[in-house]
Amino acid sequence: MKNRIIILATIVIGAFALLAFTVPQEKKKGGPWEIPAEYKTMENTYKGDASLEKYGKQLYAKHCRSCHGNEGKGDGPKARNLDTDPGNFADAAWQNSVTDGELYYMSIMGRDDMPNYESKIVDDEERWAVINYVRSLKE
Ligand code: HEC
Repeated sequence: MKNRIIILATIVIGAFALLAFTVPQEKKKGGPWEIPAEYKTMENTYKGDASLEKYGKQLYAKHCRSCHGNEGKGDGPKARNLDTDPGNFADAAWQNSVTDGELYYMSIMGRDDMPNYESKIVDDEERWAVINYVRSLKE
């Protein structure tokens, strides 16, 4: 009798352990960003500049797609190794809640798992090209 209980307990615990390993863990949200005032009101001097569209797409593919995914839904191949949820650029409510300057800060300065791009995307025109591309992913 005692042996049966031990065997049963082992099976139950084993099943839970297996479940914990195979079911993907919900990523934690990073929480609100603390964005300095000068960024919040920063003006996008390249807003609506159609000549930058192709450029922005290329830069996004090179620097951002691996985590944020093709459509910005946070499902790039590298995303599964991250602790924090990269968010969803397609989400209209999120898009409407952030100013261009805030997007600039998050995209270029980063925090934690979100890399800093100050030295990788140096040119101001390039930075806004990527941000305009992120904007275009809104659904
Ligand atoms: C190594 C993976 C990785 C790469 C590459 C990456 N990001 Fe991120 N990004 C993240 C993660 C993780 C977060 C969430 C960080 C947090 O909330 O603390 C994030 C957050 C963001 C946010 C804020 C999203 C939100 O919902 O608040 C923006 C905007 C952003 N990234 C833009 C970019 C841009 C633009 C690029 C390319 C220039 C890029 N990211 C490249 C991982 C990445």
